[in-house]
Amino acid sequence: MSRSTDDHAPNDGHPLAFDTRAIHVGQDPDPRTGAVTVPIYQTSTFAQPRVGEHTGYEYARTGNPTRTALQECLASLEDTDEAVCFASGLAAEDAVFRLLSPGDHVVMADDVYGGTWRQIAQVHSRFGIEVSAVDLNDLDAVRAAMRPTTRYVWAETPSNPLLKILDLGALAELAHEHGARLVADNTFATPALQQPTSMGADLVLHSTTKYLGGHSDVVGGAVCTDAATAAELAFLQNAVGAVPGPFDAWLTLRGVKTLGIRMARHSSNAARIAQWLTTHPKVAAVHYPGLASDPGHALAATQMSAFGGMVSFRVAGGIEAAKAVAEGTELFFLAESLGGVESLIEHPGIMTHASVAGTALEVPDDLLRLSVGIEEVEDLLADLERALG
Ligand SMILES: Cc1ncc(COP(=O)(O)O)c(C=O)c1O
Repeated sequence: MSRSTDDHAPNDGHPLAFDTRAIHVGQDPDPRTGAVTVPIYQTSTFAQPRVGEHTGYEYARTGNPTRTALQECLASLEDTDEAVCFASGLAAEDAVFRLLSPGDHVVMADDVYGGTWRQIAQVHSRFGIEVSAVDLNDLDAVRAAMRPTTRYVWAETPSNPLLKILDLGALAELAHEHGARLVADNTFATPALQQPTSMGADLVLHSTTKYLGGHSDVVGGAVCTDAATAAELAFLQNAVGAVPGPFDAWLTLRGVKTLGIRMARHSSNAARIAQWLTTHPKVAAVHYPGLASDPGHALAATQMSAFGGMVSFRVAGGIEAAKAVAEGTELFFLAESLGGVESLIEHPGIMTHASVAGTALEVPDDLLRLSVGIEEVEDLLADLERALG
């Protein structure tokens, strides 16, 4: 798979900037018609000129040109050899776990998306994969948790839903010292704000459902990594089959074109809202790495170029007060998911993170999570003011 308009350097050798690559890499005009957007190759199979010869595409589970365009673009944005796309973020994670064998061990952050924990604890553990939930900010605890069989250190930063910041460079070093690889879920930051491979991560995971798609209209996932690992994952795309359809790949690719400008606006809106929440009498605590008072701020400032669109906060008055706020907004839709242009509010304990209740990953029951959209921030503040009041 060669990348077009690439390798980040057109005619004069000048490397292309992130926003340019988001629009051009993998997306040359269609050679037959000149169409300037990559066509949706809505086909399940490809005619072959001769028995045993094909055009590079034979069957759409194995490969589809629209999916290839998306994969090439994502690989460029995360600065990896390859990207391999799946039908959802969890399907991408499933493929990463399937690279392991019974008896292998994973050190996982103790604050990850509930579905990630559910998958390893309730699905892959039945096939002999072992897992320890560890506070990855505590490097001594990580060291103590490492075993000779540890294959992955699994980090999410900023984390879901507490927006904790992890030191990717230190975790990569520690993982590598023990012969393990660092998997970084970069869904919240996106490559527009943070590039985990530049800090030593070996595999970068995405729920492309979120900021990469960006419009809450498609579910997908991706793993960005080195060529050898990508080949193993491409084998799993074909052998297991959890691939995105061509229209889903196309929608995601369309979203990616505006990733840079969307992330800038998500970040500035979220920063304003987080600051405002810190001053509100009905708010007990605010989690946002962009706040100077946030415990992750100094570290985040070294590894992120802006602090993203996710904010979580605890409501004074407990769970019932928190539920009333979540049900009281109008512009912030009460919904799971995140990363779209529209603002969302949710109660992680009852919604996205219900599957971790009673485990080390349980979240406070007065916590609300905001996915701050790109609407006019004054309108969003007025909506929150009304709901909190
Ligand atoms: C950080 C993170 N990783 C992975 C996933 C799973 O992705 P998907 O919902 O696309 O399967 C999610 C979903 O919310 C998430 O927030």
